[in-house]
Amino acid sequence: MYSKEVLEHFKQPHNYGKIKNPDGVGKVGNVVCGDVMWLYIKVKDGVITDIKFETFGCVAALASSSIITDLAKGKTLEKAAAIGRKEIVDSLGGLPPIKVHCSVLASDALSEAVYDYLKKKGKEIPADLERKHKRIGKEKEIIEEKYHDWVKVEEKMHEDKA
Ligand code: FES
Repeated sequence: MYSKEVLEHFKQPHNYGKIKNPDGVGKVGNVVCGDVMWLYIKVKDGVITDIKFETFGCVAALASSSIITDLAKGKTLEKAAAIGRKEIVDSLGGLPPIKVHCSVLASDALSEAVYDYLKKKGKEIPADLERKHKRIGKEKEIIEEKYHDWVKVEEKMHEDKA
C-alpha cells in the first residue's frame, strides 16, 4: 500500500521534535480525520535554517511531515511556503489516493509557520499566504467543533511534552 520512501520516513522520521525559541510556529489540523501537526522553524536572512515537527497522525501524515522538513530546510521562506501537496507526494514516491489529504497537513503547517514568522516580524504577508491562513483558520473552527474532546486531549499532551 505504501511506497518504500513513505515507510522509511514513517519508521525513522527526519527532524522530529521541537525547536527551542522558534522564529515561527505552525499548528494545523485535518478536517477529514482530526489529526494534528505542529511545525517549528528557525530563520536567518530569509532562509529556513532549522525545522522540526510533531505530528499526531497516520503513517502518511508522519511521512509527509518528515519529508517536508527535508524539502524546506535551506530554502527561502517564499520557496518553502510554496511547497505543495504534489511536491510532497512525488517526493514520497506517491501516496494511496485516499491518503493524499494527509500530505496537505504538512504543507499547511509549513505555510502557517512562515505566516507566523512574517506576522511576528511585522513583514508584508503575500496575498496567497494570507488566503491560505484564512482557509486554515476556518478549518480550525470546524475541527474545534467536530473534534472538541480530541483537541483538548491533544493540547494536554502537547503541554505535557513541553
Ligand atoms: S488519516 Fe489523518 S492525516 Fe492521515
